[in-house]
Amino acid sequence: MRPPRPLHLDDLPAGPEPGTLLCRTDALPDHGGAEIIFRDGDQVAHLLVQRYNGQVYLYENRCPHAGTPLNLFDERFLNTDGSSLICRTHGAQFHVETGYCHLGPCKGQYLRAVAFEERDGGLYSV
Ligand code: FES
Repeated sequence: MRPPRPLHLDDLPAGPEPGTLLCRTDALPDHGGAEIIFRDGDQVAHLLVQRYNGQVYLYENRCPHAGTPLNLFDERFLNTDGSSLICRTHGAQFHVETGYCHLGPCKGQYLRAVAFEERDGGLYSV
């Protein structure tokens, strides 16, 4: 299975316009993650950002197994040894760089990457 094309946030009902600041990345430490939520009425766009080995990755925060956010109660998205993103609901693990699920009930599927631009210490929608 090939990874899905990156999502453009303005395609989501609650997604922001292109050029919107999603989060500051200059304060995000290596192996640090953050949850980003946009709401429009009862529509929600749920994202996760993860810095990993100096790069920043942005995904829809939605597990391909059952559709829940990967995190349940905090902004930690990595497994205990820091090598993979992990879904706290049933333990699926994903390569940080690609979103590919290499372990768990949705093995072989992908997190949905989100298109972004990083500039001026921030992450912006495109
Ligand atoms: S919802 Fe993520 S592994 Fe089941």
